[in-house]
Amino acid sequence: MKNEFSIADLYKNKPLGKEITLSGWVRTFRSNRFIALNDGSTAANFQCVVDFEKFDDSLLKRITTGSCIRVKGIITESIGKGQPIELQVQTIEILGDSDAEKYPLQPKKHSLEFLREIAHLRPRTTTFGAIFRVRHHLAFAIHEYFNKNGFFYIHSPIITASDAEGAGEMFNVSVLDKKNIPLTENGEVDYSKDFFGKEANLTVSGQLEAELLAMGLGKVYTFGPTFRAENSNTARHLAEFWMIEPEMAFYELKDNMDLAEDFLKYIIKYALTHAADDLAILDQRLAEEEKSKPADQRVMPLLEKLKFVTENAFQRITYTDAIDILLQSPYQKKKKFQFPVEWGIDLQSEHERYLVEKHFNSPVIITDYPSAIKAFYMRLNDDGKTVRAMDILVPGIGEIVGGSQREERYDVLLEKIRQFGISEESLWWYLDTRRFGTCPHSGFGLGFERLVQFVTGMSNIRDVIPFPRTPGNCDF
Ligand code: 4AD
Ligand code: MG
Repeated sequence: MKNEFSIADLYKNKPLGKEITLSGWVRTFRSNRFIALNDGSTAANFQCVVDFEKFDDSLLKRITTGSCIRVKGIITESIGKGQPIELQVQTIEILGDSDAEKYPLQPKKHSLEFLREIAHLRPRTTTFGAIFRVRHHLAFAIHEYFNKNGFFYIHSPIITASDAEGAGEMFNVSVLDKKNIPLTENGEVDYSKDFFGKEANLTVSGQLEAELLAMGLGKVYTFGPTFRAENSNTARHLAEFWMIEPEMAFYELKDNMDLAEDFLKYIIKYALTHAADDLAILDQRLAEEEKSKPADQRVMPLLEKLKFVTENAFQRITYTDAIDILLQSPYQKKKKFQFPVEWGIDLQSEHERYLVEKHFNSPVIITDYPSAIKAFYMRLNDDGKTVRAMDILVPGIGEIVGGSQREERYDVLLEKIRQFGISEESLWWYLDTRRFGTCPHSGFGLGFERLVQFVTGMSNIRDVIPFPRTPGNCDF
């Protein structure tokens, strides 16, 4: 039987005097009298008051942390502090026992590392309940924002034969018999014998297909899983992550930046309003974690940071100016950067963090990167050496958004594809859009888990997706 009222409903509606049944998982059972029950609808537990004299000892013994129960009773005002209302229990039914000795989640603080090893149970903790509810609200806000602004949600393919980012970090999709792989005369794998008749991979980005749709529907976005076989064991990389990729006909770089900034502010504001309770819990969690750090290494409190971001303009600078700032910085003078700074380098995480956390102390949009370090599809500037790229960097994370104005000129694009050593035959359909009714257009990709990290204040990306996939980890 489903709950007529979830715990969230109960706190909202306060149906005093009403008889209800409530199912949930026991967080704690104190003094054989107070059950703290949670059903996941909100972080707050519901206090169920048991008159132990009315129940068998053998039943009460089965009300352990982790067990699942259904109680029936009357909602009354609570005399105790800590909750406005509670349930006076009349009947108790055990739906699922949980051996207290063996249950890995004890009512005490566990480390995030330990909880990662029991990712199948961590959704039952206060912290992970809060994170995954915030994740939901952010996803919903993203669809709401685009829907309100005239964008169409499109589904780009997950299996693809093209490497959108040209980085070659793809998971192969094949049904060839691993014990008997067909080879060509040159000794290479003969993919013509494979399922699709050619080499296929899991997509690293839906952008190229989104561009095709934008040239028919005007403004579109994707929101789907993407896969990267990069062997980076960092706190901000996953092998499987979700990306949001809007693509807009007629938008130039500045329009693209304005959209990205407005979009990020909207979804963060949405979370602040619709997930206020969960964010308060995460704010508290972070504050406690920060206490153990030396004062000069502490980060801004979570809620303060989020409000700051929604209320202040993002800084906008060119890559060339960013390099100048780094070269002039006290860090450079004191030789604190591990990787050398010079025009042309790909910014390392330490450089990004310096700019965002030390220099600007706010989100920063960096534009006009050197052509050589960015993907082939970005529009070449008149200087012939930079492209209309834009990356958005935020405190604590670094790059959260990567985007650009696209190269819409057929000749320039073809030249770029050749320079980058990409097979032009494989991109015939992409090149076609530049041959038939090409137009200026732009788009960007927001890494969903990096956004969730930013909003929840979690320092490891593995803690903001239910079941993370990273090198060597594919459990659950
Ligand atoms: O900068 P990236 O590689 O850009 C693209 O894929 C473009 N096609 C986007 C576009 O213009 N439509 O990736 C976009 C974002 C990054 O800024 C980052 O937030 C996230 O995706 N990202 C990852 N997140 C988690 N794990 C990884 N391995 C990630 N790689 C990129
Ligand atoms: Mg990028």
